[in-house]
Parts: sequence; structure tokens; C-alpha cells
Amino acid sequence: MRRPRARLLLASLAALALALGFHAPAAGQPACAPTPPDALGPFYEPNAPERTSTGRGLVVAGTVRSASGCAPIPGARVEWWSANSRGEYDQAHRATQAADTEGRYRYETDSPGRYPGRPPHLHARVSAPGHRPLVTQLYPRPGQTALSFDFVLVRD
Ligand SMILES: [Fe+2]
Repeated sequence: MRRPRARLLLASLAALALALGFHAPAAGQPACAPTPPDALGPFYEPNAPERTSTGRGLVVAGTVRSASGCAPIPGARVEWWSANSRGEYDQAHRATQAADTEGRYRYETDSPGRYPGRPPHLHARVSAPGHRPLVTQLYPRPGQTALSFDFVLVRD
């Protein structure tokens, strides 16, 4: 059985945690777990054009966050590359964009084509000062038109 003083201390710590903005993770999903990295693959090219659209039909949107404290990262850079409808990598499906002041991004592209040995996917490289660059891939389901995805980066 806890003594009243210990209980008071726990209550104070809980109140402090709330005041500092800590919150419990959503059920079944850890808050701001780092996004698992995935293979860079052979088709990455730096310095893709600045744009938020390279096609139509698949909208990907979300927030870039820091695993430390879950904070949004304003101005984080998101680079995209994916195969066209024939399953070939081309210049038309490459983009670089900056997250807004609240770390949010929105990108629209064509549904990626299938190429041998891989499910359809989008490649992304996300970078921000003070954080390790994240290289990962997104796997839209067949016919999916909207994909909500937060990128969570790890501090250096
Ligand atoms: Fe690929």
C-alpha cells in the first residue's frame, strides 16, 4: 500500500507530465516510434525538382515529426521517386518538397507501376537539421487514392 506522500508525489509527476504536453500513445501504436527505414534502391537521384505533384490519383499526406518529443519539424525536406505506370523510373516522378511551418506535407502522384519482384511502392528520403536522414518506402494498396503517413525522424 502506498503512503500518502508517495501518492502525492505520483500525482504531482502526472500533473507535471500533462503540463509539459506528454500524452499517452494511441491504442496499439507507440507515439512517435521512428519510421522503419527501407532500402534506398538503385534509382535515387539528389536534387529532384521542387514540386508537390508529379501526377494524379494518389495523395500522400502527413506530418514530419521528431521521435524526441513527437514535435513537428517545420521545413523538413521530403524527396520522392517512384516508377511510372509502366514500372520504369523516370524524371517525371521525382520531386523535392518542404514541409510547412507545422511539419505537414502533401504530395500527389500517379499510382506507382509494378516492376518485377516488388510490390508497388513510393520511395522517400526525409531530412531535417539535427536529425538523421530517413530513407524509407510506402506501399499503397491496389486502387488506394489517399495515404496518410507521418515520417518520424531520429535525432543525430
Ligand atoms: Fe523502387
